Amino acid sequence: MNASHQIEALREKLRRHEHLYYVLDAPQISDAEYDALLRELQALEAQHPELVTPDSPTQRVGGKPREGFAKIPHSSPMLSLDNALNEGELRDFDRRVRELLKGEEYAYVAELKLDGLSLAVHFRDGHFAQAITRGDGTVGEEVTENARTIRSLPLRLPAPRTLEVRGEIVFPTRSFERLNEERTAASLPVFANPRNAAAGSLRVLDPTITASRRLDFFAYFLFPVQESQSATLKKLAAMGFKVNSHWTFCQDIDTLVEFCKEWEAKRDSLPFEIDGVVVKVDRTEQQTRLGWTAKAPRWAIAFKFPARQEQTEVEGIEVQVGRTGALTPVARLKPVSISGVIVKNATLHNEDEIERLGVQIGDTVLVERSGDVIPKVVRVVKEGARRQPFRMPKQCPECGGDVVRAEGEAASRCINTNCPKRLKESILHFAARGVMDIDGLGDALVDQLVDKGLVKNITDLYKLTAADLTELERMGEKSAAKIVTNIQRSKASPLPRILNGLGIPFVGERTAQILAETFGDLDVIKDADEEELQKADEVGPKVADSIRRFFQEKHNRELVERLRDAAFVFTFQKVQRGGKLNGLTFVLTGTLPNLSREEAKEKIEMAGGKVAGSVSKKTSFVVAGEEAGSKLEKARELGVPIIGEPELLAMME
Ligand code: IVH
Repeated sequence: MNASHQIEALREKLRRHEHLYYVLDAPQISDAEYDALLRELQALEAQHPELVTPDSPTQRVGGKPREGFAKIPHSSPMLSLDNALNEGELRDFDRRVRELLKGEEYAYVAELKLDGLSLAVHFRDGHFAQAITRGDGTVGEEVTENARTIRSLPLRLPAPRTLEVRGEIVFPTRSFERLNEERTAASLPVFANPRNAAAGSLRVLDPTITASRRLDFFAYFLFPVQESQSATLKKLAAMGFKVNSHWTFCQDIDTLVEFCKEWEAKRDSLPFEIDGVVVKVDRTEQQTRLGWTAKAPRWAIAFKFPARQEQTEVEGIEVQVGRTGALTPVARLKPVSISGVIVKNATLHNEDEIERLGVQIGDTVLVERSGDVIPKVVRVVKEGARRQPFRMPKQCPECGGDVVRAEGEAASRCINTNCPKRLKESILHFAARGVMDIDGLGDALVDQLVDKGLVKNITDLYKLTAADLTELERMGEKSAAKIVTNIQRSKASPLPRILNGLGIPFVGERTAQILAETFGDLDVIKDADEEELQKADEVGPKVADSIRRFFQEKHNRELVERLRDAAFVFTFQKVQRGGKLNGLTFVLTGTLPNLSREEAKEKIEMAGGKVAGSVSKKTSFVVAGEEAGSKLEKARELGVPIIGEPELLAMME
């Protein structure tokens, strides 16, 4: 194969896996394998720069910063929708539609109203060409290079078509919370909600910033128009766009009302925010006849969920100490129910935020809750008669250590590196799911271990015996033994997890994986300077600086040495090609007797196998544990061999 063919074949493969992972949420290869393929392509393109095209998967990493945004007129106005604020208004809308269509039959498509910002994306001859924000609806801002970094947005269509797709950019709620935590730690202002974070991540001059945020694009509109909205959604999905799967076809208003109510109750179960349901008359020809008012179409309406906001009183403001020592002020609220959830606390982030809100103890405030996100104070509604300002304590409430707010920083920090609360938070992070995965090591246990002096640093965990634990409150012999086993087992965690577990600011799961793959050894990372660190993908000056500072601190270097003494493995090899499970695809289902899901996945991948999310004819084996569900049935249906954990382990030996 010549280079050009080889490059195109690799791109096709990467595109397929991007689609599986980012659009269908059903990856067939591990992140590490994906990254390995991407790197292979990067290397080939570096040898043949003349073959680099803008729609290559390598071009998603984010190009050069721009001077400003070009203003671009839209092909047709991006109008907004009229709102229905309750069931009655929704029924009124239906009545108007029925009257205008004079007894003709019609149906609706109901889609979730994603709470993000709308974007128009142009494709020319099948290639991603231009992305424009809504702007004032007539003229938007060109954000092409930024949008290119969004992985769920295809850069190439299956056929060389010229078309425009419109949809919504959203910021997943979990990532939003993490982003704000990081911004707080870095003394940057926080984003008010996921929508603002999405806008703030897309409308930046430096595309590498967009690339570092996990934005998602859901398509809901297509030019040239199709015969119906349902046909549009199907066509978009077939062309490789991410279409929110929770849309439905409604023949009558009662089904529609039902759907709206159902999603109002279920909105917290989604990984992103929705603020309502968008209802559209399905057939395009009927839409055209219903037409538009100056502001909005007559054939569609947005059923808006009530805002999840309530008023309550701030009874106090306390501070919480995090693992970096940052003191986060938290408002203690008079308990209030916000759409079914009792809220007692709201984060205030830092002193700057308190000042911006002008909030004092005793004030009545508006509190908002959204998805997974910690409730927040929106604004002061009424100043309390005997209000009292908050003062950041001079001493850490946990250890009495000095609290310092450094020049130019928003965060005040406890500077005592031995602060027990910092230690507790570090241990909880270290033991967390997806980090070292130490089951059973929760809040209550960590509190006791630190308070009783049994654990003075993370590595003391590895010296604990079952007898130590049974001395503690509410700890039986069986659970004690299990926890000790879980702790010891975590020593075998691969380098990416160890790196994540250290709690280096700005180094989460993904960056840890990239660092491990790039440098292959903790000692190399520990001693690297900023320039070297930036050789890793997605590691810019800020992250590099944070890593270097972390390893410059004496007690962090000591921690590394102690982990070494405890027999942790600091080297890392990328997925082994030619492993025992090479070419085999596994699907895991149910609870395995010994291995956690994550562990089983890692083992399979280390042996060269793949783990997929769903069973298909291509699945080589389904590994079933206790309480296996529908995947097991599917395997039986398709005749895919079913094995248990022992067989899996035997295959790898
Ligand atoms: S259709 C004329 N569908 O809601 C058609 N909009 O209030 C207009 N939105 O500006 C858009 N999810 O930003 C449509 N499934 C969906 C949507 C959606 C969210 C946003 C969009 C629009 C606003 C209208």
